[in-house]
Amino acid sequence: MRKIFIAGNWKMNLLKSSATALVQQLMDSLKGISNVDVAVCPPSVYLGDLAATLRGSAIGLGAQNVYSKPDGAYTGELSCAMLQDVGCQYVILGHSERRAIFGETDALVNEKLKAVLAAGLTPIVCIGETLEEREAGRTTDVVRGQCRGSLAGLTEEQMKKTVLAYEPVWAIGTGKTATPAQAEEVHADIRALLSTLFSPSTAEHVIIQYGGSVKADNALELLGQPNIDGALVGGASLKSDSFTAIVQAAAAIKK
Ligand code: PGA
Repeated sequence: MRKIFIAGNWKMNLLKSSATALVQQLMDSLKGISNVDVAVCPPSVYLGDLAATLRGSAIGLGAQNVYSKPDGAYTGELSCAMLQDVGCQYVILGHSERRAIFGETDALVNEKLKAVLAAGLTPIVCIGETLEEREAGRTTDVVRGQCRGSLAGLTEEQMKKTVLAYEPVWAIGTGKTATPAQAEEVHADIRALLSTLFSPSTAEHVIIQYGGSVKADNALELLGQPNIDGALVGGASLKSDSFTAIVQAAAAIKK
């Protein structure tokens, strides 16, 4: 049984006061929900403060990026140990914005993933095709290629600890969501690939989130699909009401 996991990717939004207020509202509104794992991923500069605010709460804390090296001359970067030092448990890796704007490759994501797993943080590895790739009928090839590259060399145990997020690039921040059937098709294919690359039991274990314009009104149907185990939520995670409604929809699902 996979427990549904909803994570909020705040991207480069909010300031300290609004970030703290949002976390406080969520601690209140999500109290009592125990059948869904929840995390928020704020800008890294606020991780330490928000870890203090979240102390004792069931809401997890994640970063949006990390570098693979333990320390040294890497101006502007943060290490896994630094993230842990300020109370972080999750890290998003290879988000499509990092791939498209900052040139991250599967090889770099793979290097970061290994460092994150070695440190004992939980990675959320993003994959997904562009509109052009989907229209050219290349979705399966692209997503499989990203999985093979990003997950190369992992042991079964490491794979079980890795969360995947299928995020079709054309659905991110656009208001266009993949239909539940479109998303389920890709999720089922990713799980089939994991079964071949690792083993059927490992594949059954892995949480695969969907991301791309997830909102309160589409969450129930998406999360009700057999191979969709959670959501990585961007825009709708910036307001307590909309994020809470998504988590509540998840909590109502019996799989
Ligand atoms: P969105 O972003 O929910 O605003 O589409 C999702 C993401 O980029 O993780």
